[in-house]
Amino acid sequence: MRCVHIYVLQTFAALFYLDDEITCNYDLSRIQDKSLEFPMLADKQTVLDAFHLRHACKKYDPSKKISRADFDFILETARLSPSSFGLEPWRFLVIQNPALRKELRGIASGAAEKLDACSHFVILLSRKQAALQADYRSRMWGAVQGMPAEAVEMCEAFFQNFAEHDFRLNESPRAFDDWAAKQTYIALANMMTAATLIGIDSTPMEGFDMAAANRLLAEKGLMNPDEFQVAVMAAFGYRADEPRGKTRLSAEEMIEWVE
Ligand SMILES: Cc1cc2nc3c(=O)[nH]c(=O)nc-3n(C[C@H](O)[C@H](O)[C@H](O)COP(=O)(O)O)c2cc1C
Repeated sequence: MRCVHIYVLQTFAALFYLDDEITCNYDLSRIQDKSLEFPMLADKQTVLDAFHLRHACKKYDPSKKISRADFDFILETARLSPSSFGLEPWRFLVIQNPALRKELRGIASGAAEKLDACSHFVILLSRKQAALQADYRSRMWGAVQGMPAEAVEMCEAFFQNFAEHDFRLNESPRAFDDWAAKQTYIALANMMTAATLIGIDSTPMEGFDMAAANRLLAEKGLMNPDEFQVAVMAAFGYRADEPRGKTRLSAEEMIEWVE
């Protein structure tokens, strides 16, 4: 209950203090009239088809490359993903360098063939506790989200309570870092769904040695290991083989309605 309360208050802070010029620079007038009704953007069948069509692609066709415009579109869906307190605790490395892909191959068995053949390879980094401190939080709430000082202060108090009490993020650095890493999976999911919707295959990947991946990227100067860690990886491209059919537990087994 307290958690919900905090989020309601944060939303209030955002509503009252939002600076239009900072956040509302995307033109929605093409699709939204003034009635406040949420526009229907896609039909359900199209979206469901996409979820059935998406599969964890095992073998990519190395001759097919994603266009820059299409990949920018996929990355934009990552950038627009939601995050707890709007802290955007991530960075996305697009690894196109063949030598680095080769080095990654040695520490990422679950990604090996994908690194050779996929069109685009993304490493999703998450911010560690040291990079999510009060100065970063106040920049996000103030300069990025456009809240005035008193609203930033409110958010900081909510966050302290959330971290200390509700989610116990301060119990260990690992708890805090895992909380940030979990959120990158939302961006990952959005990228994969968006890719499917424009006919591009993808693979989510945890098949790598995390410590070795962190070391390698730090050595290459691609991240500061005190501030970032590798959360998860993803390949994008075009399939070389037809996937096997989808298998899932039934809805009855998976979902319980509590009324
Ligand atoms: C977090 C996560 C990590 C995964 N890691 C790998 C991986 O390292 N290599 C791989 O080939 N597939 C990986 N997969 C793919 C899963 O095996 C696959 O999503 C699952 O079997 C369901 O199949 P589908 O995605 O084709 O529906 C991963 C999936 C997720 C969500």
